[in-house]
Amino acid sequence: MKLDKSREMYVRARRSMPGGVSSNVRLVESPHPLYFESAMGSYITDVDGNQYVDYVLGQGPMIFGHSPSFLLDAVAEASKKGQLFAGQHLLEIEVAELARELVPSAEIVRFASSGTEAVQAAVRVARAFTKKNIIVRFEGHYHGWSDSLFFDNDHSGEGQSQPLSLGISESSSSDVAVLPWNNFEAVEQVFKTSGNAIAAVITEPVMCNTNCIMPAPGYLQYLRDITSANESLLIFDEVITGFRLGKGGAQEYFGVLPDLATFAKAMAGGYPLSMLCGKREIMNLIGTGEVMHGGTANANVMSMAAGKAALERIRDKNTTDSLSLLGQRLMAGLKDLDRKYELGMSLQGPGPMFALSFTGGKEITDARSHSAYSDMELYGKFVDGMMEEGVRIVGRGMWFISESLSEEDINFTLSAADKVLGEIVK
Ligand SMILES: Cc1ncc(COP(=O)(O)O)c(C=O)c1O
Repeated sequence: MKLDKSREMYVRARRSMPGGVSSNVRLVESPHPLYFESAMGSYITDVDGNQYVDYVLGQGPMIFGHSPSFLLDAVAEASKKGQLFAGQHLLEIEVAELARELVPSAEIVRFASSGTEAVQAAVRVARAFTKKNIIVRFEGHYHGWSDSLFFDNDHSGEGQSQPLSLGISESSSSDVAVLPWNNFEAVEQVFKTSGNAIAAVITEPVMCNTNCIMPAPGYLQYLRDITSANESLLIFDEVITGFRLGKGGAQEYFGVLPDLATFAKAMAGGYPLSMLCGKREIMNLIGTGEVMHGGTANANVMSMAAGKAALERIRDKNTTDSLSLLGQRLMAGLKDLDRKYELGMSLQGPGPMFALSFTGGKEITDARSHSAYSDMELYGKFVDGMMEEGVRIVGRGMWFISESLSEEDINFTLSAADKVLGEIVK
């Protein structure tokens, strides 16, 4: 595969941009960050003209595929009348109403531009409402890169939680407790020792950011019950699950309602839009101005037009059902290949997104078992092989599905995987 132009652009970009990229998540692409020219439907094309079936999908937002005309038209039409008013407009009320209609816990919503911002607002309002400080988060989850939550343990079960970046004050770690996920006892223990200081428990309802692990039966309800019993809040970070795992997100899928929830990615099909939503009595602290939340770009016309078009389509069409069917079909094909090559693949997740890892047949239930059993080197080889064959997947194991994926794309992907796995076992 020729990547000459990408390599040239990488060298050029690094002169003007740290690492040659605009998000550190993009630093790790192999053999180096790639540069793209266009993307349409289920395909993305790099600057060297290589075309890939795309399962990265902008890291999740493109549930309708790339460049869907209904979304582009809605944005073009709306932005003819203005882009940013620093004032209110009809589209934002309409998107708020659609979100309330679709998301069971959304009594009231506040918009922002990124998932990180929505999560930061959730943390702040949770602390303000409960008048407590500690936020419980879980190993292997990702809630954006803000100083409040960018912590994790080393997954050994030993050591202390650490900031995951230089520049985050060590002292802020005393306000965050990082626990293993799907572990009832760990949660019970932290509430026993620090219950009266815990403002909130924040969780991805499906642990998408590590191997797409489903919650253990009863686990989300357990988090609901123990937070309520201790006058702490439950926050679902639905930045990935939202409008992807069903019309009403994971909260509807699992039938457990959080106090606050954050959404982004799929809600505007690739335009920058996020929201914090939840209980009126909590969110009102933002409405009265007691809790600060701002943003120059919040509710800009382009994002709100995209949000309206996206949420109307999610409400009226079978997008989320097709994501499940397509994803499950692909997972079944990959499972067949695993039986053929006996590499001990783990395939986890509900379908609209799922994760593949090579674990030698061992079960992955949390970040610790993922760190212990998942062969990342082998997965890296698989990713490189798939790229050579014209299939783009994320290096850390997630596969995102869009409704633009066709039967031919799935068959193409499975033949590519067949070839690559065949090479690996040789
Ligand atoms: C669950 C979750 N929360 C928050 C974020 C941060 O969102 P953003 O990248 O839009 O800031 C992400 C990003 O991948 C995420 O997966």
